[in-house]
Amino acid sequence: MCRMDFAALTIFPDIFKAYWEHGILRRAIAQGRISATAVDIRAFTADRHHTTDDRPFGGGCGMVMKPEPLAAALRDTRRRLPRAVTVLLTPQGRVFDQPVAAQLAAAEGLILICGRYEGVDERISDTLIDLELSIGDYVLTGGELAALVVMDAVTRLIPGVLGGEESAAKDSFEGHLLEHAHYTRPQVFEGQAVPEVLLSGNHRAIEAWRRETALTRTVLRRPDLLAARPLCAEDIATLRELAERIERIIEAQHQRGVGPLSGGQ
Ligand code: ADE
Repeated sequence: MCRMDFAALTIFPDIFKAYWEHGILRRAIAQGRISATAVDIRAFTADRHHTTDDRPFGGGCGMVMKPEPLAAALRDTRRRLPRAVTVLLTPQGRVFDQPVAAQLAAAEGLILICGRYEGVDERISDTLIDLELSIGDYVLTGGELAALVVMDAVTRLIPGVLGGEESAAKDSFEGHLLEHAHYTRPQVFEGQAVPEVLLSGNHRAIEAWRRETALTRTVLRRPDLLAARPLCAEDIATLRELAERIERIIEAQHQRGVGPLSGGQ
């Protein structure tokens, strides 16, 4: 059985415990498919006040995470998880995405270091980190949420974590397409009916419709994803049909004397 050991190094271990007690992560832990521990960096401080941060050399505002407690917490965790990959969560890291999640899911363990304040002492990143990851181009107050995002996305890719009906293979981003639209009961909600085809029982037609909605919404919302993948002939035919439909709408508007082609309003 594939298994992944996670350890989060943090000054707020309770944040993690709350998340791990719910949903698919809770089930994965109960089934022994993952283990998850929150290591309190404060427990590795040597002073009376359990200090984890200090003023930056050279002056300036904000505080920096001290290297000694972090290094001690990391070395202790590595003794327990000697084959784990060590990741620092920082807005300066490589942007985390589905391919990175898939790569990390193949590791035996992940040690996730959560910075606070202005960040961690550079000597930690220089010597003790395998990979720096950012979850997006914005700045959080600490790495804890980012570590949970990474854990969550990686956990659901570990074989056996998702049941067959929840399978990760059809997710948004797998195959570089956003996912198709989803509907459930009731059949009519506030006057809006579910697309007929989904009630038809015609599985081929349903598959084709799903593929088309996946392609259409990817074109409209995330065309950058399409540029990054080779499309099959069927997908190109679907996109061509979509382009022709749009062309017909524009042409009809033009015939009515509307729009920039006619120089109208
Ligand atoms: N810490 C603060 N902001 C972050 C981000 N965007 N990603 C990862 N860690 C962070």
